[in-house]
Amino acid sequence: MVIKPKVRGFVCVTAHPAGCAAHVQEQIDHIRSCGPVRDGPRKVLVIGASTGYGLSSRIAAAFGSSAATVGVFFERPSEEGRPATPGWYNSIAFTSAARAAGLYARNFNGDAFSPAMKAEVVAAIKADLGQVDLIVYSLASPRRTHPVTGVVHKSVLKPVGTSYTNKTVDTDKGIVSDITIEPASATEIADTTKVMGGEDWELWIEALEAAQAIAPGATSVAYSYIGPEVTWAIYKNGTIGLAKNDLERAGRRIDAILKTNGYGRAFISVNKALVTQASSAIPVVPLYISILYKLMKARGTHEGCIQQIQRLFATQMYNGSALTFDEAGRVRVDDWEMRPEVQAEITRIWPQVTTENLAALTDIAGYREEFLKLFGFGLAGVDYEADVEPHLPML
Ligand code: NAI
Repeated sequence: MVIKPKVRGFVCVTAHPAGCAAHVQEQIDHIRSCGPVRDGPRKVLVIGASTGYGLSSRIAAAFGSSAATVGVFFERPSEEGRPATPGWYNSIAFTSAARAAGLYARNFNGDAFSPAMKAEVVAAIKADLGQVDLIVYSLASPRRTHPVTGVVHKSVLKPVGTSYTNKTVDTDKGIVSDITIEPASATEIADTTKVMGGEDWELWIEALEAAQAIAPGATSVAYSYIGPEVTWAIYKNGTIGLAKNDLERAGRRIDAILKTNGYGRAFISVNKALVTQASSAIPVVPLYISILYKLMKARGTHEGCIQQIQRLFATQMYNGSALTFDEAGRVRVDDWEMRPEVQAEITRIWPQVTTENLAALTDIAGYREEFLKLFGFGLAGVDYEADVEPHLPML
């Protein structure tokens, strides 16, 4: 089958297996080029391991520290006439490369929110690895079936309190327009926290702990975002921001549990805004990212997911380094994004952007390139005219 991108709004409904493999290889090459991380993780569980920050965390652990990795994700396999989702192909490519390098890699495709998945993963860890010393929690999901009540909670990306109007860009069509988003209802706020808050992270830790599957000195990390004032109404102070506050609450509780039991630590890492399947769905944010990319590339400070996680591992978590916290106890690898001179430029450029000058004032081209790469398109060395086998079994 010849596979071409089919973009529908903020998603691409096709993915290219060879392109996804090349994208994973790019990340592996980056980690190898940085050299090994001293005293890095050895046995790692990544929840949300197939795309974005979770995939990069898995790659950084495996190829920077020779770690055994267990990956949990929720991806759709190929169907008749339809390729699989990118995370499916990414996980196959990662696993082949890890095993070729002599590393243990095991995959679990299914609902991480379910007790059955937790039980299966914990049993596999007990049987194969005994314990894990790093647990990365990197889920981004639109819904969660609650393990106790069976209620399906859906997350929304809305402001809280009052409606919000700002500029946004249709990244596919290149049209800049105003968008007004009505505030979330109390139910929507609570639902978003159920999905993207910290309860499920706590349940994972409790399941692992009950089975004594957490190694002494272990670390657990979950990822968050804060961003600039221009996105606060939709992000930091919106439904997703409130869910992230709950993730921070869970992080403090998990940290206390791990410390009490002599194990280690848990913390939140605030990461940079990047093009991922999750972030492209948030109104306003893609326009911000397009401006940000232009400014950071010009300054030579631009990073992708893999550079962010490599820096987190090498300068905060391992390599003889110590975690540095902000006033709220979070680690910040969004520091280069949040530099005052970068943010002052964003504030200056933001009101000027129109459909007509979008290409000149922002890196919309770079945004689109990155977006297509998420689905395995636009990778050097991949023949996109060639027939490719879309039906690949999970390893
Ligand atoms: P992503 O969409 O690339 O990855 C989400 C992962 O979660 C995938 O592996 C997916 O398979 C998995 N997943 C989703 N639902 C699942 C389920 N029910 N069961 C098992 N696995 C499931 O997202 P991204 O952007 O990497 O986000 C990961 C975390 O990083 C999120 O907490 C996000 O808020 C945070 N973050 C993202 C930033 C960004 O700009 N993209 C910036 C800072 C933090």
